[in-house]
Amino acid sequence: MGMNHVNSRTPILQSAGTPIKDTLDRPLADLRISVMDRCNLRCPYCMPAERFNDNYQFLKRQQQLSFGEITRLARIFSRLGVNKIRLTGGEPLLRKDLTELISMLADIPGIDDIALTTNGTLLSKHAKALKQAGLNRITVSLDSINPEIFRQMSGGREDPKTVLQGIEAARDAGLSPIKVNTVVQRGVNYSSVIELLEHFRHTDVVVRFIEYMDVGTLNRWALSRTLYSSDLIESIQKHWDLEAIDPLYTGEVASRYRYRDGAGEVGFISSVSKPFCGDCSRARISSDGQLYTCLFSNQGKDIKTLLREGYSDLQLEQNIRTNWHQRQDRYSETRGTASSSASDPQRIEMFYIGG
Ligand code: GTP
Ligand code: 5AD
Ligand code: SF4
Ligand code: SF4
Repeated sequence: MGMNHVNSRTPILQSAGTPIKDTLDRPLADLRISVMDRCNLRCPYCMPAERFNDNYQFLKRQQQLSFGEITRLARIFSRLGVNKIRLTGGEPLLRKDLTELISMLADIPGIDDIALTTNGTLLSKHAKALKQAGLNRITVSLDSINPEIFRQMSGGREDPKTVLQGIEAARDAGLSPIKVNTVVQRGVNYSSVIELLEHFRHTDVVVRFIEYMDVGTLNRWALSRTLYSSDLIESIQKHWDLEAIDPLYTGEVASRYRYRDGAGEVGFISSVSKPFCGDCSRARISSDGQLYTCLFSNQGKDIKTLLREGYSDLQLEQNIRTNWHQRQDRYSETRGTASSSASDPQRIEMFYIGG
């Protein structure tokens, strides 16, 4: 590419550092990119097997953003204030040559944290290469280490042992801190929470419990399945004493606690009982290149088409800027009220946007 002085990049460099805020004065700081809509598990609350069977039409390669397209967007987002990128899926490790993308992202000035959310089943194979490519951190979704409950919660596929081996491999590779995300459902895995904590006490793995949310439309969510963090903390306290500790950074979604006996840290993500929209600085891009400014959006902005129609970096930046300026989302704070989109049949699904 010619490096003359009037290429489309020049004005953008001048705008670098200009803080960009939405209508609620929230900056754009965090970009979550889904790189794969497929998954090798079939968690009933995310990709129920009866729906995601052999007849389901997943995205074709051409419909997915390429690594070049993703990197170009990430570069533009970094100029708008993003310094943290999380890769998600479906299962991101199913995307061929993912390490290549990670190296490309790691080269972007201003991106100082690259994390990955995975179900961990393929981690043993990839952990070392991920670290070498420049991945900083990893978060593993693991709802139970009880084989039967795990099977029930992953659609009868895989074994918790495989995931635990993956976590070990990630630790050996130096990917730290490692976080484990556990969605707690009343009557499903609540009974195995203590067993899970017992396993990770005295390790550097931080278990974080997520309140089961009404994301998407496929999981037939019911509030009766959601267990509030306050109740969970109370039942954990019967086993070990916990004490609240300060957040690591503004807008951290998990409330942090430590075991008083020094055995480590536990987190609680209370998106239903204590929504955190006020500090939400997250933008999300689906694997087919739609930009979403909320996990509960019903419609994204089609940036893939803009990319493929030949928009310049500056034009793309302006589009994203305008989109963020107009952002009003605060779904978790308004759920259940008249302005909520809970009854909208069009809401995006978790496997498509990656949580
Ligand atoms: P770090 O603090 O960087 O480690 O990551 P994180 O806690 O932001 O990210 P992670 O992907 O681990 O988030 C954990 C879970 O919290 C997600 O899978 C979602 O279930 C939930 N969550 C994360 N961000 C949001 C959000 O913006 N809104 C809501 N409602 N839930 C979120
Ligand atoms: N509520 C809360 N968390 C969810 N996840 C998927 N669906 C839901 C839901 N309805 C979690 C996954 C994974 C992360 C990407 O999002 O278990 O940890
Ligand atoms: Fe796959 Fe994660 Fe969805 Fe389970 S929750 S089906 S592991 S994307
Ligand atoms: Fe952000 Fe939407 Fe989640 Fe609120 S509900 S924290 S606005 S993603």
